[in-house]
Amino acid sequence: MTQSTWDAVDAYFSEQLVGHDPALEEAAVAADAAGLPEIAVAPNQGKLLHLLALTQGARRILEVGTLGGYSAIWLARALPADGTLITLEIDPKHAEVARGNLVRAGLDKVAEVRLGRAADSLAALVEQGVEPFDLVFIDADKPSNPEYFRRALQLTRPGSLIIVDNVVRGGAVADADSTDPAVVGTRALHELIAAEPRVTATSVQTVGSKGYDGFTLARVQS
Ligand SMILES: C[S@@+](CC[C@H](N)C(=O)[O-])C[C@H]1O[C@@H](n2cnc3c(N)ncnc32)[C@H](O)[C@@H]1O
Repeated sequence: MTQSTWDAVDAYFSEQLVGHDPALEEAAVAADAAGLPEIAVAPNQGKLLHLLALTQGARRILEVGTLGGYSAIWLARALPADGTLITLEIDPKHAEVARGNLVRAGLDKVAEVRLGRAADSLAALVEQGVEPFDLVFIDADKPSNPEYFRRALQLTRPGSLIIVDNVVRGGAVADADSTDPAVVGTRALHELIAAEPRVTATSVQTVGSKGYDGFTLARVQS
């Protein structure tokens, strides 16, 4: 199996089950035109996030790592009219592109991009004692994943879902000797989750247009 096969299968699934979606297509074009890296989730992955948020009946969603707002659009579309999505981004250019994309998608009333280091923004949310989030999607700098997961636990409730993207790292996650900070952070995340009695979790390997990677899905139990 090769990348071209994975691309073809993703293209087929997206054509059948996602279809033509002007807001998402415009968001991808705007991100590309602004020179943002091509590291947003794929359309069928975005739809998975959307379906998880719908299944969750999510009214409040937190995202760590906005980029151009592609996954934020998918997630925010699952919210009711009075729902809230807060997405955290460190790069002012990314935040600006995301805000434009959310306006064009008609989601700026429910979705807010907060600029700054995610660690600081998360600490501020905890400090403010905000209402718990029903779903948290963690997709920013991978070495910080353990810190983001700990914060997510402080910002959720029993029944909330926490999703962490890119946990396979091309298979390197299985290498205990890796010195790659992203791998070290991802392994530390798994050790943290394994020792955390408040969550039940699994991680799944995936292939697709974004290559060989995977995600962690954790449910807060108590
Ligand atoms: C993989 S991209 C997010 C992709 C997005 N979730 C999507 O699928 O459309 C990661 C983003 O996290 C941002 N980021 C990296 N380090 C960060 C930090 N310390 N705090 C907040 N955002 C950060 C990057 O600038 C980048 O825009």
